[in-house]
Amino acid sequence: MKNLFEIKNRVVVITGGTGVLGSCMVEYLAEQGAKVAVLARNKENGEKLVNGIKAKGFEAFFLQSDVNDKVILEQNAQDIVAKYGRIDVLINAAGGNMAGATIGPDKTIFDLDVDAFKTVVDLNLFGTVIPTMVFAKVMTEQKQGNIINISSESALRPLTRVVGYGAAKAAVTNFTKYLAIELATKYGEGLRVNAMAPGFFISEQNRSLLTNPDGSLTARGNTIIAHTPFGRFGEPEELLGTLHWLASDASKFVTGTLTVVDGGFDAFCI
Ligand SMILES: NC(=O)c1ccc[n+]([C@@H]2O[C@H](COP(=O)([O-])OP(=O)(O)OC[C@H]3O[C@@H](n4cnc5c(N)ncnc54)[C@H](O)[C@@H]3O)[C@@H](O)[C@H]2O)c1
Repeated sequence: MKNLFEIKNRVVVITGGTGVLGSCMVEYLAEQGAKVAVLARNKENGEKLVNGIKAKGFEAFFLQSDVNDKVILEQNAQDIVAKYGRIDVLINAAGGNMAGATIGPDKTIFDLDVDAFKTVVDLNLFGTVIPTMVFAKVMTEQKQGNIINISSESALRPLTRVVGYGAAKAAVTNFTKYLAIELATKYGEGLRVNAMAPGFFISEQNRSLLTNPDGSLTARGNTIIAHTPFGRFGEPEELLGTLHWLASDASKFVTGTLTVVDGGFDAFCI
């Protein structure tokens, strides 16, 4: 019987591939037999990740990139097609919050740093839109392709403080649905676009917001756990099942969706 989840030899491009969640996705997909093009800004981290994967006998390829630079991304796309011949899946995982774009308890909306807000929108929204424009071009020529965006819990319900990040991720969710329709109606059902909304996972960008230097939880960390029925943060590995499903033919009739992976946070009220 056909294995619906088979992704062997599928060419996957991932932005933010050396991040906490991105690198976990890269290692898993390579171990499943995918050919993974890892896009990241830091060459040393990218090469270290890819060399580790190759040492285990799996296939990956590092490309230095910037999700806000179309010229670099176009060169990346050319290099990937030259090496692997096609692009099957794009995972837009680069993103994150920035300290300046938040409004802390001691500040109000009138203190908002608009430039910092714009920078967060640039990274999270345009850092999804621009790579999509570049890699979806290759996919439309193939009449086959699959885009997976990484949105956030903050897209569904505005979280306190992270005003810029929430607005940008809400826009990523909207763009996911828009693009699913745009591509399917103009290029056919071979083109799919979906998003995942991870709940709370400890990473470099939120560690100091959620935990103290001694490892104990901050007040915000405690509030999040109190509102998470599973009573804990997620582990990066817990995103992989949803990712694999979306990247494979098991989700062949699925487009324009957002899958929440959050230990029940979004469903919880009191
Ligand atoms: N950690 C969480 O709890 C959580 C929750 C929901 C959504 N997310 C999202 O998941 C994705 C991965 O986040 P993470 O937690 O692994 O964070 P991370 O900071 O570890 O990874 C983000 C990566 O994006 C890269 N990046 C930043 N600017 C870039 C640019 N201009 N070009 C290319 N790469 C750039 C960073 O270098 C980093 O490698 C992000 O989109 C984030 O917003 C994270």
